[in-house]
This record gives sequence, C-alpha cells and structure tokens, in this order.
Amino acid sequence: MAPEVIIRKFQAKDRAAVRQIAYATALMGEPAGLFFQGQEVISDAFSLYFTDYEPGSCFVAEINDQIAGYLIGAKNKIAAETILNRQIALPLFLKALKSGIFLSLKNLIFIFSCLKDLLINGIKTPDFNRAYPATFHINIKDGYRGKGIGAKLINTYLEYLKIEGIPGTHLATMSDRAANFFLSQGFQQLYKGRRSYFRHILRRDVPLYIFGKRL
Ligand SMILES: CC(C)(COP(=O)(O)OP(=O)(O)OC[C@H]1O[C@@H](n2cnc3c(N)ncnc32)[C@H](O)[C@@H]1OP(=O)(O)O)[C@@H](O)C(=O)NCCC(=O)NCCS
Repeated sequence: MAPEVIIRKFQAKDRAAVRQIAYATALMGEPAGLFFQGQEVISDAFSLYFTDYEPGSCFVAEINDQIAGYLIGAKNKIAAETILNRQIALPLFLKALKSGIFLSLKNLIFIFSCLKDLLINGIKTPDFNRAYPATFHINIKDGYRGKGIGAKLINTYLEYLKIEGIPGTHLATMSDRAANFFLSQGFQQLYKGRRSYFRHILRRDVPLYIFGKRL
C-alpha cells in the first residue's frame, strides 16, 4: 500500500527541510549548486520571507515523517515584496558579502549573466497583482514527483485563499514541465517571456511564464 500523504500547515520545525528543498530544486527542479555556491543565501532568497514572515500561508506534504514537498505562499505579493526590499534584502546582501560567496567564480559568472540578461530582456513583466494578488512557490523533492502531491498542495492553498477572501493568485516559472502542471490545475497562462541568465549552463534561453488563477 502506498504511504499516506499528509498535507498540513507549515510549522517552525519544518523550516530546515523547506530550506533544503528550496536549494535542491532551485534550477527548474535541479539543485541550485549547478549555478550558484552558497546554500544559506539561496535558501534565504527563495524561502525566508514565506517561512519567517508569513508562515500561516505555507503548507507542507509529509510522508512517513519526512517533508516531501512544500507550497510557500503570500496572500499579497506587493506586501511581501515590500518586506523583502525593506527588511530582508540588505541583511541578506551583507550576509552574502561576509560569507565570501562573491569570491566564487561560479557565482560571479551567474551575477554577470543576470546583469547581461537585465540589459537584454529588462526586469519588468506585466503587473497582475490587482486581479491575482496572492503568489506562491511550490516544490516537490525528486523521487516524490508525479504522485499527486503537487495537486494536493495546490488545492489546499486555493481553498485557504478562498476562505481568506483573496480573489486570485499568480506565479512565475521557467519550467516547461511545471507549466504543464499548472495548466492541468486550471491555471491560465498570462504571460510568456524569456530569460538568458542560465545560458552559460543550459546553452539556451529559458521561458519565463506567468500563470494565474481567479478564485
Ligand atoms: C511541478 C511540480 C510542483 C508538480 O507536482 P507533482 O506532485 O509532481 O504533480 P502531480 O503528481 O500532483 O500532478 C498533478 C497533475 O499534473 C499533471 N502533471 C504533473 N507534471 C506534469 C508534466 N510535467 N507535464 C504534464 N502534466 C503534468 C499530472 O499528469 C497530474 O494530472 P492528473 O491528475 O490528470 O494525472 C513538481 O513536479 C515539482 O516540484 N517539480 C520540480 C520543481 C518545479 O518545477 N517547481 C515549480 C516551480 S514554480
């Protein structure tokens, strides 16, 4: 018999597991180490706002006492970005500086690629915050994918947002596989652009999709 999947609210004891999965899945499901050295900094950048400032909007999937995946959300993306810019960005930059990660050639190449991409593609994407104010990240550990866990997490989050009176949610992804997953969950493609910052690793540009769902 397949082990039971428990979808439940995030708790403080899950923080380390969430941070570990955030690092292990950062490059379209592959480890961040492929493009950046510095697990603490990557985990902070991807998950700190959610786990530390809005834990009530975060959910985990537990199997046999192990965290197999998470959905970390924010009811209002603009409010989340304000906290990120005002309270998280500077301490994170100083922490990164102190840890010496800017001395790594791999990291310098990635930072250079990001700056180049900024010049080529710009940073702006259309603003969907009014109709779809919430946002989230979802990641399932390798080995647990394709078993219905992502769908269960999404359903739980959407029910939570409905109860909270949030009219819609949107998210960005660079993964074609994840794009198909979101379509299968009733999300609509709102935008498609492209980014070049992984070209030195993947030898190609990646798509940048924004998907949304009204509730
Ligand atoms: C994308 C991801 C969250 C999906 O979660 P999952 O648990 O693997 O997906 P599920 O098993 O719940 O699939 C649910 C449905 O989506 C469909 N689906 C999932 N992956 C798909 C894919 N690559 N292509 C097409 N459909 C897909 C399934 O067929 C299933 O449909 P069904 O119910 O009709 O069978 C997960 O695979 C993942 O974390 N991948 C790596 C990291 C990533 O890309 N994260 C998203 C970044 S925003």
